[in-house]
Amino acid sequence: MQFTVQPSAISDATVAVPGDKSISHRALMLGAIAEGRTNISGFLAGEDCQATLMAMTSMGVDVEQTNSTEIVVQGVGLHGLSEPDNELDLGNSGTAMRLLSGILSGQSFTSVLTGDESLTSRPMQRVISPLRLMGASIDSNDGRPPLTVNGKVPLTGIDYALPVASAQVKSALLLAGLYADGVTIIKEPAVTRDHTERLLVAMGAKVECADSRISISGNQVLRGSDIRVPADLSSASFVILATLLAKQADVLIKGVGVNPTRTGVIDILQAMGGDIRMENARLYGEEPVADIRVRSSTLHGGPVDARLVSLAIDEFPALFVAAAAAKGNTEFSGIAELRVKESDRIAAMATGLRNLGIRVDESDDGAVVHGGRFTGGIVDSQGDHRVAMSLAIAGTIAADTVTVNDVATVNTSFPGFTACLAQLGVAIQ
Ligand code: S3P
Repeated sequence: MQFTVQPSAISDATVAVPGDKSISHRALMLGAIAEGRTNISGFLAGEDCQATLMAMTSMGVDVEQTNSTEIVVQGVGLHGLSEPDNELDLGNSGTAMRLLSGILSGQSFTSVLTGDESLTSRPMQRVISPLRLMGASIDSNDGRPPLTVNGKVPLTGIDYALPVASAQVKSALLLAGLYADGVTIIKEPAVTRDHTERLLVAMGAKVECADSRISISGNQVLRGSDIRVPADLSSASFVILATLLAKQADVLIKGVGVNPTRTGVIDILQAMGGDIRMENARLYGEEPVADIRVRSSTLHGGPVDARLVSLAIDEFPALFVAAAAAKGNTEFSGIAELRVKESDRIAAMATGLRNLGIRVDESDDGAVVHGGRFTGGIVDSQGDHRVAMSLAIAGTIAADTVTVNDVATVNTSFPGFTACLAQLGVAIQ
């Protein structure tokens, strides 16, 4: 599958983007191990969350999808999951694999977690090591999936300093912490998304957060709840990017999650000169939400504040495109984690942008993107949804047609991406 994008004018519009991927995964998992019924609205009907849904179903959880974004989960309680008959195939989803490994570590059965070519090459030692300390025994392919998780009942609480800032690892340990005797304490080297903490609180658990330390006691009962999932800021970022780069457009994106642990992309683009405002601030449960208004802007480069990296971790492919369209050079540093995402995102974006006539100097943990003008050309997503969407947006202001190859994974996070861009006036097929 490929995208073909023609240079396009963006028109003023009000758009919606699909539900937040991180929150959709968590709502399903926590709903499954809660007592009673959880109603989820605004659920992301993407392939990643569908993989989590199938996994929960294979462990005996009754999940009814009343329509693609409305889900009813009949919670089985903390100890009600049953052994799956087959291995759990989590497709492309690192979040599903890492968070589930936390829950499965606390079960009295063995389970096997696997995934697609990208997922089976991603590092899992970061969850295996601390979960082993809690008492689980986990076999892997030299630190990579498939993972065979031999659960232990009960696990033991640990006091653990995360070596890398990772919301997925933090969340795996918080979920395992529910199955542990005593208290589990996690220290973060940098703040990462806190959706697990907020959802646990919304479902009645006690979680303490202070000075980058998060602690949770075991054996707490979660209450089934009504969860409204905000639109995904990571998906909205592509609309924000397209609007900023356009000549003259004013676009409103409705009901977007603006949790401060996610808004690094807005801070970085504003520092580059982007006109982005939040309107109509409100809460969906414990999650901050706003409508985001974006107006076309002249962007300029400069050093990107490395303290914002963990708060914008998924938006660097889009930020690389913003940098390429900006005046001057943009220096990214402290982004080594991008090399172990769905693809090596530093390399994938550097190659893609070079093919479109942009100079990029790469280092181990950073890149300098030299502002320029996109030529047309053929680029490859490396099978990475966010690389595919970012390079497609570059096509909206390129000198000629941009073709992006290998784009099927866009359905993991942003089903309806092409329809959304078409609504903005982008000629994309
Ligand atoms: C996610 C956390 C991030 C992010 C991923 C989703 C999550 O990864 O890149 O797309 O839902 O917890 P890490 O924080 O583990 O790097």
